[in-house]
Amino acid sequence: MTRRELSVDCAGLARPTTLSIHGSMMIHARGLKHTFWSGRGKEKKPVQAVDGVDLDVAEGEVVAFLGPNGAGKTTTLRILTTLLKPTEGTASVAGFDVATQAVQVRRSIGYCSQVGSTFSGAYAGDEVVDHGMLYGLSRRDAVATGQELFDRLQLDGLWRRMPKHMSGGQKRRLDIVMALIHSPRLVFLDEPTTGLDPQARANLWQHIGDLRARQGATVFLTTHYLDEADVLADRLLVIDRGRIVAADTSDNLKAAVAGDLVDLEVSDRTELAVARDKLATISDEVEIVDRHVRGRVARAGKAVPGLLRDLEAGGVSLDSIEVVRPTLDDVFLTLTGRSLRDAEAATEKPATEGGR
Ligand SMILES: Nc1ncnc2c1ncn2[C@@H]1O[C@H](COP(=O)(O)OP(=O)(O)O)[C@@H](O)[C@H]1O
Ligand SMILES: [Mg+2]
Repeated sequence: MTRRELSVDCAGLARPTTLSIHGSMMIHARGLKHTFWSGRGKEKKPVQAVDGVDLDVAEGEVVAFLGPNGAGKTTTLRILTTLLKPTEGTASVAGFDVATQAVQVRRSIGYCSQVGSTFSGAYAGDEVVDHGMLYGLSRRDAVATGQELFDRLQLDGLWRRMPKHMSGGQKRRLDIVMALIHSPRLVFLDEPTTGLDPQARANLWQHIGDLRARQGATVFLTTHYLDEADVLADRLLVIDRGRIVAADTSDNLKAAVAGDLVDLEVSDRTELAVARDKLATISDEVEIVDRHVRGRVARAGKAVPGLLRDLEAGGVSLDSIEVVRPTLDDVFLTLTGRSLRDAEAATEKPATEGGR
């Protein structure tokens, strides 16, 4: 279903005035599962796209749903936005049940799909005004809000341009305008920057960060870009093969899950064994490569001074010591045994329509 159809369903309904948010959670989901069937006849095989997802997102949070292609991000998002019924599990979004109060959920959210809007061939401004009116805004309000959003998202001057004549970055920002026209309190963005050049991505990041600052919106975005999750999100939900494997801030995940990499370069190979033993007192797995001894250490800043004293006492002299902060890819590797990049490469593309 396109967002246009989605809005038609919502048109003419009264805006919800009172909400009962589940324990002040904007999104609350338990045990979500979704099975697709791919292939035909005897060849038909189940694909467990979402496999028991629990998630809680508080009002005002910017959360990144991070995982490789095929991990189940879009499927989860489509369940939360009522576009797809879960095979199992329950979810409430903005205080409404996705199964029994789909219309209220749709009125409360903005959604920018991974593939973007299908524009009709009209001017961008007219598309936006139409869209706002479908959500119950007066023409005047839709024009005023639309123009303000065009300004904010650096689309000024493009009101009377057809979307098909816009650049990729401009079109993606127009998608976001469409998702924001009715001032939703919760915005879902599915891979908002995929396919954009680095400058357009950085520009969009700024606008997404702005959403909460300006209108206090809760933002739930999916991405397979580690740097994007790192820069934008208060909290990350890491999904792999349909399951959430971690949920925390980027800093906490790096500290707790991966740890800093400490690399000691000894002056003399005869000192390798002693250096390894010393590092092993603060690191679970230590490896030797050439004249280097390496291991991951939780919060190395605290542990390294003691280690240096130990090494000196043991008669080890170092040519160099390096402490490398972990990346989110290290976190993913520790959690799943695969690097996010390898997981990306290994994932087959969905064969069926609708698998995005
Ligand atoms: N309509 C569909 N029919 C069959 N399989 C699908 C469909 N949509 C998605 N899938 C499969 O479900 C899994 C999760 O897909 P998706 O939620 O799109 O992942 P992501 O958004 O994380 O890339 C993938 O294995 C994908 O191939
Ligand atoms: Mg997707």
